[in-house]
This record gives sequence, structure tokens and C-alpha cells, in this order.
Amino acid sequence: MQNPNKVLITGGTGLIGQELSKKLLQKGYEVAVLSRNKKKDADIKAYEWDPANNKIEKEAIETADYIIHLAGANLSDKRWTEKRKQVIVDSRVKTAELLFNKVTESKNSIKAFISASAINYYGTVTSDRIYSENDPPANDFLGETCRKWEQSANRFSEAGIRTIIVRTGVVLSDKGGALAKMKTPVKLGVGSPIGSGRQYMPWIHLEDICNIYIKAIEDGNMHGAYNAVAPENPSNKEFMIMLARAYRRPFWAPAVPAPVMKLLFGEMSSVLLEGSRVSPEKIITAGYEFRFPELENALADLTGKS
Ligand SMILES: NC(=O)c1ccc[n+]([C@@H]2O[C@H](COP(=O)([O-])OP(=O)(O)OC[C@H]3O[C@@H](n4cnc5c(N)ncnc54)[C@H](OP(=O)(O)O)[C@@H]3O)[C@@H](O)[C@H]2O)c1
Repeated sequence: MQNPNKVLITGGTGLIGQELSKKLLQKGYEVAVLSRNKKKDADIKAYEWDPANNKIEKEAIETADYIIHLAGANLSDKRWTEKRKQVIVDSRVKTAELLFNKVTESKNSIKAFISASAINYYGTVTSDRIYSENDPPANDFLGETCRKWEQSANRFSEAGIRTIIVRTGVVLSDKGGALAKMKTPVKLGVGSPIGSGRQYMPWIHLEDICNIYIKAIEDGNMHGAYNAVAPENPSNKEFMIMLARAYRRPFWAPAVPAPVMKLLFGEMSSVLLEGSRVSPEKIITAGYEFRFPELENALADLTGKS
């Protein structure tokens, strides 16, 4: 029997990485995660790295056929001070640079490098424009962060390694992330839109984002950036109405005013208060079929479990 392909996932302990690891194992891949804290009792093989000191367990790189780069400080964990913003950038960009240096120093050649990015590439702006992969990055903080993140990933491409960048929308999961935060007020019957409620909220079900990463491994024709968002892009108000309906709770019409959001979350509130539509046409044309193209079905699936 042929040896299974080995996939190394940075930040594989997170929301996407855990589910992706499970799916890859089910498909017969060997999976290892690259983590800052290796847990001895973990079910999945883990290697340790210390990006701040340029250290990675050598075997992690020597044995990988594919690298999926998901590592990155969570955007909503802490207030965006200047120090935190630097951590947000470095945890994505410096880590990708470290991976590149270690891969090019190694005798092992990887078959592809697949990196997360975010639809924030297009900017925290509310408009009716539908953004696609050829649009330029925005010059706000997250647009710049994504540009640098993708630039560091593209060093692999320049070195002749197939490189795929997954510009991800808000990932909906019953295991954490944005939905976990939004559902609490909704379940208490006080769900309401944020700010104007007119901002779009491109989203993707956890299962679809994992399947897109798997397609990126398996489809040798894929390279470059792909938007990973479901075809249906609701506004924030539409989203909250459907979430309340999914939980059979009333919808609380008065919105949380933008100034309150700014006071509570500082600059981070821009991600919640602004948003445009994003097109998934490129990934669909590449042959990807969404399991959850519509919000109603996605929410029915996720709220049924939590
Ligand atoms: N979830 C979403 O809605 C969404 C949307 C758009 C883009 N994305 C991007 O997709 C990637 C994966 O998302 P996720 O939701 O799975 O993220 P997550 O749950 O926050 O996990 C990210 C992982 O990154 C590692 N990490 C955290 N801080 C780090 C630091 N300072 N330096 C190095 N590594 C660090 C952690 O792994 P260890 O503690 O094991 O090192 C963590 O488990 C992220 O880059 C994220 O920005 C996610």
C-alpha cells in the first residue's frame, strides 16, 4: 500500500484545524499539528514551534507533504492595542516566513503550501459592491494584515511550490467562533442587529471551509487566492433575524448602536459594523460544491446541535 500523504497544520489546535484534522484522518491522511504548546495526551500527533525564536521541531518539516498554515492570534480575543495588532500580524506573517525558511533549508520538498487569509483583505467597508479575487487589498489595518500574510505565503509560489490562499468569511460552527458569541443574546430572546444592520456578513459553514482545504490539497489545478464564503451573503440584520428564527426566539428590533460597539470593542468593532459582499464564483468554477450554500440550512444544522 502507498504511504499516506502527511499534512502538517500550523494552528491546528484551533476551530478550523481541529475539524480539518479529523476529516483528513478519516480520509486516510497522516496529520500532525504544529503548536506552541505540545500536549502529551493529544489524540493527534503534535510538533512544537516557537516562532518568536525561529524554532520548529525539525521532523515536522522533514516529514510533511503538505503544509496548511492556519496559525494566527485570534482577532476577537483581546482589544486591539498597538501591541496586540503587532501580535495579530506577526503570528501570521513571521510564522509563514519561518516556515518558508525551514522548508527551503530542508531536503524534503512539499507538494503544496495552503494558507488561510480572510475576506477582510477587501476592507472593512459597507457597500453593494461584490468583491472578487482580482480586487486589490484595502489599506485599513486588516486589509494590510491580509496583504502581508498573503505576500509571505506567496514566497512559496515564487519558489515553485503550488500555493493556495483561502480568503475566509465568518466561519459558522457549533463548537465556537462567531456563532457561539452571537447565539447567547439570541437564545435569551434579545438578539438584535449591530449598528445599521445593513453591513453584509459573508459566512461559511465549518464543514465547507474544511472541505475547501481538502480540495486545495487534492486538486492540483488550484493555485492562488480563492474566496471561501457561501453563495448567499446576508446583511447583519437578515443574519440575526434568521438566527432568532432558527432558535425560535423573538427578534429584538432595536439595534446595538455603533457608538456602543465602538466603546465596547474599540477599533475591532469595525469588523462587526462594516462589510461588503464577496463572490465565491472562483471556487465554484474550480468544481467546489457547497454542502451549505444557504444560511437557513446552515443554521438549521448548527442550531440543532447546540
Ligand atoms: N474562524 C473564522 O471565522 C475565520 C475567518 C477568517 C479567517 N480565519 C483565519 O483562519 C485561521 C484559523 O482560524 P481558527 O478560527 O481556527 O483560529 P483559532 O481557533 O483562533 O486558532 C488559531 C490557532 O493559531 C495559533 N495561535 C494563536 N495565537 C498565536 C500566536 N501568537 N502565534 C502563533 N500561533 C498562534 C493557536 O495554536 P497553538 O496555541 O496550538 O499554537 C490557535 O489554535 C486563522 O488564521 C484565522 O485568522 C478564521
